Order: sequence, then C-alpha cells, then structure tokens
Amino acid sequence: MDKLVIKGGKRLTGTVTASGSKNSSLPVIAATLLSSEGCCTLHRIPDLQDIRTFTQLINHLGAETSFSGNTLTVATGKIESVLAPYELVKKMRASIYVLGPLLARFGEARVSLPGGCAFGPRPIDLHLMAMEKLGAEISIETGFITAKAPGGKLKGAHIDFPISSVGATGNAMMAAVLAEGTTTLTNAAAEPEIVTLCRFLSAMGANITGTGSTELVIEGVESLAAVEFTNVFDRIEAGTLLAAAAITGGEITIEGVEADQLKSVLKKFVHAGCNVSHTEDSITLISPDKLAATDVTAKPYPSFPTDMQAQWTALMTQAEGTSRITDKVYHERFNHIPELNRLGAHIEIRKNQAVVHGTRKLSGTKVMSTDLRASACLVLAGLVAEGVTEVLRVYHLDRGYEKIETKLAALGADITREQYKEFS
Ligand code: UD1
Repeated sequence: MDKLVIKGGKRLTGTVTASGSKNSSLPVIAATLLSSEGCCTLHRIPDLQDIRTFTQLINHLGAETSFSGNTLTVATGKIESVLAPYELVKKMRASIYVLGPLLARFGEARVSLPGGCAFGPRPIDLHLMAMEKLGAEISIETGFITAKAPGGKLKGAHIDFPISSVGATGNAMMAAVLAEGTTTLTNAAAEPEIVTLCRFLSAMGANITGTGSTELVIEGVESLAAVEFTNVFDRIEAGTLLAAAAITGGEITIEGVEADQLKSVLKKFVHAGCNVSHTEDSITLISPDKLAATDVTAKPYPSFPTDMQAQWTALMTQAEGTSRITDKVYHERFNHIPELNRLGAHIEIRKNQAVVHGTRKLSGTKVMSTDLRASACLVLAGLVAEGVTEVLRVYHLDRGYEKIETKLAALGADITREQYKEFS
C-alpha cells in the first residue's frame, strides 16, 4: 500500500492548475451510454482510480474506451449487457449512475445494490423513486435492482425530490432525456456537476430547460448523438488547495477555475482573514498572519459543500477561537476528527457538528485515511504539523485527487509517496 510522508511547516507559494472534476466526469461518462452510434470524446477527465473503475464498468457493458492525457473516448454503439455486477459496483457507489441511461436506452437494467459507506448510510431510494415515476417497474432480489420499462420506453412525469440529491437528479435526467413526453424535476440538485451534465446532455441533443436551477424541464427526444465535450474544473480539489495554502500561511494562485462556483467557500476564506481575489479563470489567496475562527454549515449548492467540511475542520485547528462545522448533508461525516485529535487538535463532536478549539499546535504521527475527503483533511493537517506525518491508506485520496503530492510539492510542500506493508 502507499502512504504519504509529510514534513510539516513549509509555506506553500506559487501557481497550480486545477484538474477536471471527478464528480461531473462520472455522470458524463454514464451519459455516453445514451448514444447508440459514434464516439464521444471527453476532455479534462482526471486520471483517478474512480474514473478507471467507472470505465471498467462501462467496458463490462460493452463500451469501447481509450484514455490518454486526460482525454477519454467512449464508443457505446455495441452495448451487449445491461447488468452492472457486484464486483464493480461495490468499488464505487456512483456506479448507480448507469441505471438511468441503460433503462432509458434499452428499457431495462440490472444493477447490483451498492454497499455501505464510511460516513453513514447512503440510500438510493430517491434514484428508484425517480425511475418508478418515469414508469419503470422495479424489483430488488438477491442484491440486485432490476428495472424494466413497460413496452421498452420510459414516460415523462413530474418528479418532486423530498431532499436535494445530486446522484438522483443526475440519474433522473439521464432517464428522462429519452423518455416519451415531458418530465419536470422539482427540488432538483443545482450543483455545478449537475449543470455540467445538463450541458453535456444538451450538446448530445437533449431538450432541457432550467439548467442551473432547482426546476428542470426535459422534453424527451428520439435519440442522442455522440459528441466532443470539455469537463468542468474540480471545485473541491481547488478548495482543498486553497486550504493547503491558508493552513501553511502561504500564497497561491489556482488557474483553470471559475470563482463563481466556489463563492460560498471563498466567502469563508475571506471571513477567516484571507485575501482572496480572482480573474475570469484564476483565484489567488494570500493568507493572513492569524486565521480567525469561522463557522461553516454544509448544505446543498450554492451553500458550503459537504465535500469541503473535513478540510475546513483541519484549517480551523489553526484559527484563533472556536469554530463550529455543521454537516446537514451527511450527519455522520466525522471520521477524520479522532485522527485530527491524535495529531494534537482539540475537536469535540456534538451530533452533526464538530466544535474546533483553536489554535492548537499539531505534531506529526501516523494517521489513517478513512474516506476521500477525510484523507485530504489529514494531508492538510500534516502540512502544518511539527515533524513527520504519515498518512496511511492513501488509496482513498487517490480516488479523488489527481497527482496531489506532485501539485503540493510543486508549491513547496515536503511530501513524498512511499510504499508500506500493513500489519493486521
Ligand atoms: C454526491 C457526491 C459526493 C457529495 C454528495 C453531496 C458524486 C460521485 N458524489 O454524492 O461527493 O458528498 O453528492 O454533495 O458526485 N439521499 C437519500 N436517498 C437517495 C440519495 C441520497 O436519502 O436515494 C441522501 C443522502 O443520504 C444525503 C443526501 O441525500 O444525505 C445528499 O446525497 P446525494 O446528493 O445524493 O449524494 P451523492 O450523489 O451520492
């Protein structure tokens, strides 16, 4: 296994380019399944384990792919199977994204139920509710979801989501674009990843109005074409890199970004005392002498993202005063807290809130990654901790951050990747 070895205390400075978004790549790759001829060319796809797992899944269905230099080509003319097996789905919950497009194009799909998750229950009931509203008959047996559209075709419907869900909105959209008639989605997710999916589907020939809002209207079309498309930047990677600069008292510029999509996060950096400025495609952050304690509450977009709360918690260990980090999306997403406390932080968990008492001097030790964003938070803590921090099980980090140690090292961090053997 790999670990990251970080010697803390280096101030990060310089310029770095953001990678493409993982969370928008996944539904976009799933959406390629909707076209029955030609080849989609997708640019700015990050080279990450999750992308390779998802590509393996669509290859299993019969798609032909090639991936080189962040460009993925996908030909989906010869899909031979509508079955997503347990062996692949268990590696990544986002595999559920194949349900909507398979059902829309072939009138049927069999997808293994995804398993549990490191930060609490992550049900898929809203995905299934959306498919049922579109006319699918759903049964769950022997660990598989079997979905069938009577007569082979889904029918437009009104789908009102009781809570905002990125995944269920994406799946419903991909199912509705080839359905007969009009579908209306209300309380739909409006995250930039959904906007990117809307843009991709529209480029393929889908008829979608309301892009960027919580109400989407989709007129079903007969067929969709394979197209060339450029993915959006990864706003969570960008936010994490800004936090890396801020926690080390540094000064960085991130290129290839749109500040608008990070508004809620940038506002918090300003509140914490950072000087933040932006151009059309870059963001610059200059750290203050002392960070100020700043509360955040993670909620659906445009609020502060749940995928940034662990990193914010690490940052607040270095802020003066007490800050409260509340997660209203995933109430149990606090696996990183005991590990941060092992580094010397003083953080209490109260229900869905972490209360961070700063400023605490952190000292390096071995810490364990438990999930993707928790690992990012431990890397941030390692950048400021005295001595050496070893972040173990970095395969979690590798699922979502492209060349993270290369990017951090280029900004001046003392960080290396090493192999180790885990004793059980
Ligand atoms: C996506 C992101 C993930 C991010 C999350 C919230 C991807 C691959 N992952 O996950 O990084 O943390 O959005 O921004 O894009 N829920 C239900 N029933 C469902 C589906 C969701 O109750 O059928 C609940 C979830 O438990 C959660 C909330 O809805 O409390 C939001 O989850 P959702 O937006 O669906 O997250 P994902 O799409 O799985």
